[in-house]
Amino acid sequence: MSVLGLGRMGSALACALVKKGYDVTVWNRSADKQTPAGARRAGDLDEAFEADVVVTCLATYEVQRPLLSKNIKALVNLTSGTPEEARVTAEWARDNGVEYVDGVIMAVPQQIGTPGARIFFAGNEEHHVLDAFGEPVYVGQDAGLAALYDLGLLGVMWATFAGYLQAVALTGTEGVTPQQLTPMVADWLRELAEMLPEMGEETQHRDYETEVSALDINVSGLRMLAEASRRQGVDSALPQALHDLYQRAQQKGHGTHSIASVIEVIR
Ligand SMILES: NC(=O)c1ccc[n+]([C@@H]2O[C@H](COP(=O)([O-])OP(=O)(O)OC[C@H]3O[C@@H](n4cnc5c(N)ncnc54)[C@H](OP(=O)(O)O)[C@@H]3O)[C@@H](O)[C@H]2O)c1
Repeated sequence: MSVLGLGRMGSALACALVKKGYDVTVWNRSADKQTPAGARRAGDLDEAFEADVVVTCLATYEVQRPLLSKNIKALVNLTSGTPEEARVTAEWARDNGVEYVDGVIMAVPQQIGTPGARIFFAGNEEHHVLDAFGEPVYVGQDAGLAALYDLGLLGVMWATFAGYLQAVALTGTEGVTPQQLTPMVADWLRELAEMLPEMGEETQHRDYETEVSALDINVSGLRMLAEASRRQGVDSALPQALHDLYQRAQQKGHGTHSIASVIEVIR
């Protein structure tokens, strides 16, 4: 088994393989990265390619591409990228007789090797070593699907974290501490998560009738959040961008509809 890339994640993957009893060879561009205990450092890439399976975990596909070779027998790609990049790599693998699994890691390095670490994988259902890293979840035949799920879920994370930081900054202008605010946000997020199945169904059926909260009232709320942010001296780019997005749905005639109708603009 070989691992290319000894960054934070690649090192965690190599350690997990060693713990599972695999014979592990590692390769990294720079010499300064430590060789995980129990693993062997490859002298060059060709030596790393002698393994039955090569796991890659590099910064991007762009830096990974020139390293790949048809001397690889089976490639388990855990470098993050776009669906298109995953599909192109799958095609390259097919053309060069390399067995290919495309995966994305929905966990941080510290979780690798524990049951909570989900690894979405696509294309080939044979997933080789993924069990050693956590919980493999097969998402479908199209090699781009794992990357698609990855980016969708990361988008939820980035938007949520930015919303939280906006709240910390805004309430912080009046001395509210993160310790006071955070439990409220955590409760709020749990309640919001419960609303998602219904919202998902609304987007599917394109039926946005609501007795709960109309888009009009939410556009007003976002205008207030953007204005309050400015008046309290914090950045208003995020609430303003959300206001503008929601307002476009309102202008399309969804003012009395639910928030789910914003999908009509996003789609
Ligand atoms: N860290 C996380 O929480 C996390 C979570 C999920 C997915 N991932 C994914 O895992 C992958 C690796 O992330 P990471 O956190 O391990 O990043 P990292 O610590 O920054 O490591 C990056 C790795 O890429 C290598 N690299 C960068 N440019 C290169 C080049 N031009 N040629 C050859 N090697 C090059 C680095 O080698 P050098 O040591 O020589 O610079 C290093 O091994 C990324 O695709 C990331 O999206 C990470």
